[in-house]
Amino acid sequence: MTIYRAVPVCCGHYLPERVVENAEFEATLDTSDEWISSRTGIKRRHYAAEGEKTSDLAIAAAKAALANGGMDGSEIDAVILATATPDQTFPSTAVRVQTAIGMKGGFAFDIQAVCAGFVFAVAQADALIRSGQVRTVMVIGAETFSRILDFTDRGTCVLFGDGAGALVLRAQEGTGGSEDRGILAANLNSDGRYTDILYVDGGPSSTGTAGVVHMAGREVFKHAVVKLAQAGEAALDAAGLDKGDVDWMVPHQANLRIMTQTAAKFGIPMEKVVVTVQDHGNTSAASIPLALSCAASEGRFSPGDVLLIEAIGGGLAWGAAVIRW
Ligand code: ACO
Repeated sequence: MTIYRAVPVCCGHYLPERVVENAEFEATLDTSDEWISSRTGIKRRHYAAEGEKTSDLAIAAAKAALANGGMDGSEIDAVILATATPDQTFPSTAVRVQTAIGMKGGFAFDIQAVCAGFVFAVAQADALIRSGQVRTVMVIGAETFSRILDFTDRGTCVLFGDGAGALVLRAQEGTGGSEDRGILAANLNSDGRYTDILYVDGGPSSTGTAGVVHMAGREVFKHAVVKLAQAGEAALDAAGLDKGDVDWMVPHQANLRIMTQTAAKFGIPMEKVVVTVQDHGNTSAASIPLALSCAASEGRFSPGDVLLIEAIGGGLAWGAAVIRW
């Protein structure tokens, strides 16, 4: 039987022009560059301009990916876009990308798993490709978290930023073994008992407003270190690989301390962990594809390298995927 693998073809990203340094918050909040960078690793983040929407960011990232791969939008069969900050309640933000990149048919939809959204989206793209339903999928993470921040809450507003990243996956025949290129395995989880430690206090069916982010940071931190390690191990196990096989860890960029502790659990030195949190802040579902695209554009990945991506966010929802580049 033919096995189809979802193999990475190209990626791209987009960051809004406006850069907000930590020091900017010192004017309005009881905070400091020192506190923010020592607790989180964040030094700056990008904010979308007035009127700039999540779809604008997503379209720019998608076009960058196509340009990097020398591809045309008509080659894409499906767009899966992970976001917690869609342009509108409906339609999906993904259909705007579908039109903007010139897809002639196929389909597009959004996925909502907050910061874990990109990992969930990659797993769905993999399932669609493996089943033979589609050949080429554009997977995007795009967010404008600056739109849902309470700028009087120093515990959350300094953490997040805006951006988008895109990864094109294409079907390629494989053997089914761990030597194949492509998405080798994914591990997805959620636990709705923890909705109250990380949430947005609005929505169409409750308040009729978009709401703002609330987070019990220390609680989320504790879950993150344990659950990311469990998901990463489960994904590696399912791929038939172990920790020693990982060439690159590309974690969700929420907090440098979470990344350092998780990497230590895997015995992976920090030189093999892609870190962009200092320049992007936490861009939720966009953080992994942004990190992937930045590292790829610097030529850090070689074909055949094993990448471990992992993320946790509101839900709680968390997961990991193993990709042979
Ligand atoms: N500047 C100065 N002081 C601050 C700031 C700030 N920006 N923010 C909080 N503090 C204060 C708090 O008020 C508290 O003061 P108190 O002791 O007088 O009450 C003190 O610093 C310690 O607060 P903690 O929240 O306990 O600080 P902690 O060391 O845990 O760091 C942080 C906070 C950075 C948020 C951390 O907990 C964290 O990164 N958590 C994980 C976040 C995460 O991973 N999120 C991922 C998912 S995001 C998503 O899904 C949308």
